[in-house]
Amino acid sequence: MSNQLRAVRGMNDLLPADAPLWSHFEQTIRDWLKRYGYREMRTPILEHTGLFKRAIGEVTDIVEKEMYTFVDALNGESMTLRPEGTASCVRAAIEHNLLFDGGKRLWYAGPMFRHERPQKGRYRQFHQVGVEALGFAGPDLDIEHLLMTARLWKMLGLAEFIRLEINSLGDTQARASHRGKLVDYFSQRADQLDADSQRRLLTNPLRILDSKNPAMQALVEAAPQLIDELDDAARAHFEAVKRGLDAAGIAYRVNPRLVRGLDYYNYTVFEWVTDKLGAQGTVCAGGRYDGLVAQLGGKPAPACGFAMGVERLLVMLSDAKLLPPPDAPDIYLVNVGEAAERIAMRAAETLRDAGLNVVLHGGGGSFKSQMKKADASLAEYAVLIGDDEAAANQVTLKALRGEFGAQPEQRRMALPEVIELLKTGF
Ligand code: HAM
Repeated sequence: MSNQLRAVRGMNDLLPADAPLWSHFEQTIRDWLKRYGYREMRTPILEHTGLFKRAIGEVTDIVEKEMYTFVDALNGESMTLRPEGTASCVRAAIEHNLLFDGGKRLWYAGPMFRHERPQKGRYRQFHQVGVEALGFAGPDLDIEHLLMTARLWKMLGLAEFIRLEINSLGDTQARASHRGKLVDYFSQRADQLDADSQRRLLTNPLRILDSKNPAMQALVEAAPQLIDELDDAARAHFEAVKRGLDAAGIAYRVNPRLVRGLDYYNYTVFEWVTDKLGAQGTVCAGGRYDGLVAQLGGKPAPACGFAMGVERLLVMLSDAKLLPPPDAPDIYLVNVGEAAERIAMRAAETLRDAGLNVVLHGGGGSFKSQMKKADASLAEYAVLIGDDEAAANQVTLKALRGEFGAQPEQRRMALPEVIELLKTGF
C-alpha cells in the first residue's frame, strides 16, 4: 500500500456516483443567475502572487499561511493558485476594460485553493460559485445579492436550514477610528491575549475579533464595536439594506462581530450560515468592496459580491436527501454471440442517431450476466441481440423500468420500430 499513488490531502476526486448531484447543482445555478441577468466569466486558476497580496491583504490568514505559492522555475516569478475569485475577476475587468460603459453583473465558478487543515466541509481544493456586481454604488445591489441568495436556497430546498447574518464595516475612516479604539482596548488587556492575538495587535487588530479561541470570547465580546463608529452615509446605507430585507420578508440578524477574513470589504458584509455542518457553517459570504477596483489600478468603481462553497451546499443537499435521479441511459444493448457482436456497434450508433442514450455492453459474457449489467445500469429498456435476432435482422426490446404500454413486456421488432416506439410512445 505504501507506494500506492493517492490524491493530495484535502483535494477530492469527483466520482460518477456523485456527478449527477454536481450537475443538478450547476444547472440550478445557471438558471438562477440567468434569472438575475448575471453573465459568466472564467479566469485562470494561476495568477501572479502580488494580485492576491494586494487584494486580500498581506496580514490575513489566507495570504499569510494558506496560499499555494511557488516560484516559476522558468522565469523566477512568484505564482499562486487562486484562493478566491474576487481578485481575479476585478483584475480581468480592469485589464479588459469591462466597465467602460457602466456597471457589470458577473459570475464565475471553479476550484479555489487554500492550505487549510482539512476537515468536513473544509478542503484544500474546494469550489466556489462567485457573483460580483462591479460599478454599482447604491444599496440596491447589496439587497439584490441578498434576495438572490435567499431565492437560491429556496430553489435548492435548503431555505429552512440557512440563516443570514449581516454587518456594516463602514468606510476607511470608521475602521481607522475603530482600530485605534481596539488597539487601546486590547493593549490595556495584553496579558489576556493569546499568542496569535498578541501578534495581530501589532499587525491587524480587527482580526482579533475573529478569534475562535474560547478563552478569548469574553474579552472579544466586550471590545469596542465598529458599528458605533459609522458615519451618517454608512449608517444610511446599512439602514437601506435592512429596509430592503424587511420589505422582501428576509429574516436576518445584525452581528456586530462579523468582520470577514479578507481586507477589501467596506460597508455591508454578510454570511449565510447553517447549523448542519458543524464548525464549517458558513455556506456563502460576501459584501461590498468599493475600494478594490482602484486599489488594483482601475478607475475607481464601487462593487459588491459574494461567493458560496459548493461542497458545503452539496453536503447539505445530500444530508437532506435532496438528490436528483441517478444518471441512467435509455437503453442497455445486450449482444450475445459472434453474429450479434458484429452488428451491435452499428445498431447502437443508429439508436444514438435518433437521440437515444445507449450503453453498449462490452466484453462478451452470457445473456444472464449481461442482463444483470443492464439492470444495474438503471436503463429504462434493454435491446437484446442474439443469434436469432441477428439472423432475422431484428432486435428484442425489453422493458426494464420503462413503460411498455399495452404491449407484452418484451417483443421482437426491427430497429426502426424500436426508435419509433421509444421516441413517440407506445
Ligand atoms: P470567503 O468567505 O473566503 O469569501 O469564501 C466564501 C465561501 O467559500 C465560504 O463561505 C465557504 O462556504 C467557502 N470556502 C472557503 N474556504 C473553504 C474551504 N477551505 N473548503 C470549503 N469551502 C470553503 C471569498 O472567497 C470572497 N471572494 C467572497 C466574495 C465575493 N466577496 C465579494 N465577492
